[in-house]
Amino acid sequence: MNRFEKFLRQLSFNVKRDRELDLNRRGFIASTLSLMGIFFISSTPLLAFSKNKKEESHETELFITKEGELAVGESLPFTYPDDNDPALLIRISEKEYRAYNIKCTHLMCPVYWEKDSGRLACPCHNGFFNVEDGSVLAGPPPRALPSIKLKFKNNKIYATGISQAQH
Ligand code: FES
Repeated sequence: MNRFEKFLRQLSFNVKRDRELDLNRRGFIASTLSLMGIFFISSTPLLAFSKNKKEESHETELFITKEGELAVGESLPFTYPDDNDPALLIRISEKEYRAYNIKCTHLMCPVYWEKDSGRLACPCHNGFFNVEDGSVLAGPPPRALPSIKLKFKNNKIYATGISQAQH
């Protein structure tokens, strides 16, 4: 390649370089926006499906135990509405029971029933919940534990739904 040809090549590259960069930038932005649009549109049916699934599962009725099988002050682990949802039934008095999903609302550590203090405790960061309504007593959890609705029929206790905590 002689010097003149080399000079011409450099000149032609310089002339196009700015425009190529500009086009590349525009192309990048356009393709990014297109991809975002595609992801948004394709995720909409999944969101609707998961919402429906959640609402359906909350209406499931599940037998937990017979009344009286649990002593006052004791707790019984179960899962509800799915096997991946650990829950705890607690008999707080002769006639009263409470049940909660026991995934801590902070970082999902399993909460346990602390019989001596009468609270639900999370061992990970010392979170404590009120057994009466699942509300936060202390620690970092941002909201109450979801409480599980109970139904009593023929001396049997059933889980019938979940109330998401508002406080
Ligand atoms: S995970 Fe329960 S307090 Fe942090």
